[in-house]
Amino acid sequence: MRSLISILDFSKEELDQLIATAKDIIANPEKYWDCCKHKKLATLFFEPSTRTRLSFEAAMMELGGSVLGFSQASSSSASKGESMADTAKILSCYVDIMAIRHPREGAPFVASRNATVPVINAGDGGHQHPTQTLADLLTISRELGRLDNLTIGFCGDLKYGRTVHSLIEAMSRYTGIKFVLISPEELKLPNYVRYNTLEKHRIPYEVTTSLEDALPNLDVLYMTRIQQERFDDLDEYNRLKDSYVLNTEKMKLAKKDMCVLHPLPRVNEISVAVDDDPRAAYFRQALNGKYMRMALILKLLEEAKDPQKEAISTNDLVFDRPCTNPKCICQVEQELRPTARITDPKEGVLRCIFCEKKV
Ligand code: CP
Repeated sequence: MRSLISILDFSKEELDQLIATAKDIIANPEKYWDCCKHKKLATLFFEPSTRTRLSFEAAMMELGGSVLGFSQASSSSASKGESMADTAKILSCYVDIMAIRHPREGAPFVASRNATVPVINAGDGGHQHPTQTLADLLTISRELGRLDNLTIGFCGDLKYGRTVHSLIEAMSRYTGIKFVLISPEELKLPNYVRYNTLEKHRIPYEVTTSLEDALPNLDVLYMTRIQQERFDDLDEYNRLKDSYVLNTEKMKLAKKDMCVLHPLPRVNEISVAVDDDPRAAYFRQALNGKYMRMALILKLLEEAKDPQKEAISTNDLVFDRPCTNPKCICQVEQELRPTARITDPKEGVLRCIFCEKKV
């Protein structure tokens, strides 16, 4: 059964096809009004959301389908101790497709291994957020007319910003891409993205702490919120929270056709005055998220008509090497067997299959 857990589950051709479908939906919405008649989507949100959950629900409704679900863990039986695996098996009895957001890294992956319907990762802790990436890709394509030959700056919380991890992985599939990673030392990009994606595929990138220095060279500036909910130490959050604020003065340093993206919600990192700048694309980006989620639902439901149980290759797996990431789903669901994958045979690097942290 095809699911979307990591953006790398889709090839570049599939991403381009989703973008083409989304553009067709925008041009001809009536063509799609009944495409999901009698189909049900579950939105299982164990963590707060405005855009992702409600755009998924709007997407399914605009395709003629129905929606059920919950918006907080406390109103589900997870609060009584039900596992992710059991929740996925139960929901498979009721719906045709499900979107899951969870604070634990790897939770949607566990769901996908136990569900009999497609599972969509709607954000797992500080790990990945592939459907935000779909929104980002459509936005860049619509704003700039291309996805190749771009210099993209990521600014803010690159450690916990899951949207950054997924977008870097997606953009590394396109040609002529260069990244500029702008963050405080404490919030640098995790090693699994840096080594598995940037180094492995020899994608050029710069690391800097200065937004002002980076701005003149960027085609896309991807601002992010410092993710308070991921910090163990509140003092550290308070020290770092206003590291970067994009304002109209700084926008003067940028190219005339640069576009500013932000997955939202914003707190303080883009001043409201920037909203009036035509280069500010973040509200259009939120709308694009709905169209891409419509395209995604259509694709996964179509593929579910011909389900092929995709087995995980066991060739590169190593069992019973415990993961030490306190935020991994395997820390709370004890029946999950600790499993790691050899991601770099030369170096012998093992990474947890749930959260991708080094074990
Ligand atoms: N961008 C995003 O994931 O927003 P929500 O948290 O509101 O879903």
